[in-house]
Amino acid sequence: MEKRKIRIFDTTLRDGEQSPGASMNPVEKLDIALQLERLGVDAIEAGFPMSSEGDFEAVKLVAQNLKGTQVIALARTHPDDIERAWDAVCTAASPGLHVFIATSPIHMRYKLKMSEEEVLKEAVAAVRNAKALSPFVEFSAEDATRSDPSFLCRVFSEVIKAGASCINIPDTVGYTIPGEYARLIDTVIQKVKNIGTTIISVHCHNDLGLAVANSLTAVQHGATQVECTINGIGERAGNASMEEVVMALKTRSDCYPYGTRIVSEQIYSTSRLVSRITGLRIQANKAIVGANAFAHEAGIHQDGILKEKTTYEIMTPESIGIPQSKLVLGKHSGRHALRERLKKLGYDLSDEQLNRAFSQFKLVADKKKDVFDGDLEAIMAHEILRIPDKYELDFLSVTSGTDLIPTATVKMKVDGKPMKKAQFGDGPVDAAFRAIRAISADKTRLLRFEISAITGGTDAQGEVSVQLEEDNYRVLGQAASTDIIVASAKAYVNALNKLEYLKKKKRILRGGP
Ligand code: KIV
Ligand code: ZN
Repeated sequence: MEKRKIRIFDTTLRDGEQSPGASMNPVEKLDIALQLERLGVDAIEAGFPMSSEGDFEAVKLVAQNLKGTQVIALARTHPDDIERAWDAVCTAASPGLHVFIATSPIHMRYKLKMSEEEVLKEAVAAVRNAKALSPFVEFSAEDATRSDPSFLCRVFSEVIKAGASCINIPDTVGYTIPGEYARLIDTVIQKVKNIGTTIISVHCHNDLGLAVANSLTAVQHGATQVECTINGIGERAGNASMEEVVMALKTRSDCYPYGTRIVSEQIYSTSRLVSRITGLRIQANKAIVGANAFAHEAGIHQDGILKEKTTYEIMTPESIGIPQSKLVLGKHSGRHALRERLKKLGYDLSDEQLNRAFSQFKLVADKKKDVFDGDLEAIMAHEILRIPDKYELDFLSVTSGTDLIPTATVKMKVDGKPMKKAQFGDGPVDAAFRAIRAISADKTRLLRFEISAITGGTDAQGEVSVQLEEDNYRVLGQAASTDIIVASAKAYVNALNKLEYLKKKKRILRGGP
């Protein structure tokens, strides 16, 4: 018998993007969306078009380029929001609108300053407006888990009458616990008499570390859609992690007799791509996709694994697409081998992109003997998947040593105009940063500077993260190179470019999600 399919609604590009510092530009969003389509998600929430011009463009780009995956745009209940969201998403092969309003006493009283009756009226009108435009409308009762269940059920009954195809029961602040959430789902299913075939969606935040557990419990109690993000990124402590939800359903199919359409072998490359683009690193012990998730350290464990893998592995690394051969290419490898390897890592490149990737690959291969998957991913993230930036680093020369005052000379283009500065510093990185600052005249504060080796050996590529803050904006720049001073300068410039992008992307609303 075919297992009941749970819809996987990915909100990495919308709620995931709400992680501090994870802002993505339209091209980056499209790259992730194309990979999510390969991964097999049912729906992609691509953004919140009313929140900025950039998000409008991003949703439009995603809508125009996906082949069949449903593309959803978020909107508040205002008619203008709904129209804007529809304008962005309407060209998708399968478009959808997602409207939301809060239903909890706390949100209605303090944030919305609206009564229950006003919220109900607004919700119904919004669903009606959305339905007049879109064949698919999802309605979310924001902060559902702190709402009065009878009011919640009344709202759901009315929005279904108004045309909602899906009702979402979000645990907006990550407050609920599995037993309580189960009771709420049971209540909704029993009390909303016209629920019929309406999709019952859950959307859990991870403030208490329970987002995945709550989502799985909800599925056992009748939820038919799980909203989640890759690597669990999202507002505050994040959202339910897609890879954990999917692999729990798959690995424990004895307890969860439901399937998903996810091609689990695409999980690892999707996770790496999202991490690279957002700059949000994955903790080593993160379930499913962390660097240690399949590493066995203790002697007893290693002995067990060598004798029989299932002694300590409840799923295989292959099942989530972890490449088995880490060693991939060297400097004699050709374009074809590179294309094939990149395909395996989830990157389907155009000829022009392949040419650029190949020249970068040759540069790396000339400097180091073996080029690993991590190196290729660094090339993809830092050199290929980027849009033209305001600042471009053209040249960097640094002198430092035991008896020298560290000095850096930097040549950069700012909006295409060449500029040059030299500065002293407390070290070569400091000198390089000072020279870049002298050119960009930025007023940022450096919050974090981190260097790590992507692969092993003294010829490893160093990956640098630079976190900058200006006014209320926080950005994370990243870059990789076999030269850590060059990587540092590139990461700083990357952060400046992200900041420029963010400044343009001024949020025009307050109190939105
Ligand atoms: O967490 C939340 O309530 C949301 C809604 C917009 C669904 O993100
Ligand atoms: Zn959310």
